[in-house]
Amino acid sequence: MKYYEMHEEVYKDLKDKGYVSWDKKKKAVDLFHHDINIALGKNLSKYFPKIKNYKALDLGTGTGTVALYLAKQGFEVTGYDMSSTAIEMANENAKSLGIEADFEVKDIYTSDASTKYDLVIDSSFFHCIVPKKEREKCYSFVRKSLNEKGIFFMHTMIQSDDMSTMLSAKHLELEGDILWSTGRDSWDMDWEEVKGKRVFAHRRVLSLKNLELELKRNGFQIIERELQENSGNPRTFIAWVTLC
Ligand SMILES: C[S@@+](CC[C@H](N)C(=O)[O-])C[C@H]1O[C@@H](n2cnc3c(N)ncnc32)[C@H](O)[C@@H]1O
Repeated sequence: MKYYEMHEEVYKDLKDKGYVSWDKKKKAVDLFHHDINIALGKNLSKYFPKIKNYKALDLGTGTGTVALYLAKQGFEVTGYDMSSTAIEMANENAKSLGIEADFEVKDIYTSDASTKYDLVIDSSFFHCIVPKKEREKCYSFVRKSLNEKGIFFMHTMIQSDDMSTMLSAKHLELEGDILWSTGRDSWDMDWEEVKGKRVFAHRRVLSLKNLELELKRNGFQIIERELQENSGNPRTFIAWVTLC
């Protein structure tokens, strides 16, 4: 299986245990109290003053945490995720909240963008894409999905000086800017060896400088950004980005 297909296995477990989201919420109504939604909510009305008729796309929507928040604010929302279980859960969350959104199973890396949006969201999706070539393909997907004046909102992890809390987890190893994970024995991965552990590439945790350079190289400019410190863990890079 491809390294990012492990998400499907995680969602199956979450669903079996009665959770409604990646961050283990038990009730759909609690999805709205999520860091990404709080960060989005801070500036949403500045960039989208008249919240009617705007179209938004949530990449790696998972169980619809951000998509459903945006739909509640009046956006017409589409959420893509490659995990069919996540999309099932997103539809269940939409139903229990009485909110409409269009959720589709789609692997963004292997798909072509077909519709234009006013707002494209990276709701912790990009740090799941590890190789440079795959990240460039995903940036191209974003470029093709954005209206000329569209906005790309990023919420992603980046390196901090102290990531000791995260790295104390026995299943994780950081080498350069790749976070490796030991995963489960039953997973059929292209396993590699890092620091004596059998691992697969789990996340790309870029430095601030390299993420900013990557955005520029891929045709984006940051118009506003915030860095959130998360003691002992990677920082969160929150940015409002446009096409150059
Ligand atoms: C860290 S989770 C975040 C989920 C959700 N946005 C949230 O905030 O709760 C990353 C999501 O990206 C999805 N994902 C990873 N690679 C993908 C790909 N190539 N195409 C579509 N979705 C992908 C995973 O299935 C997972 O749902």
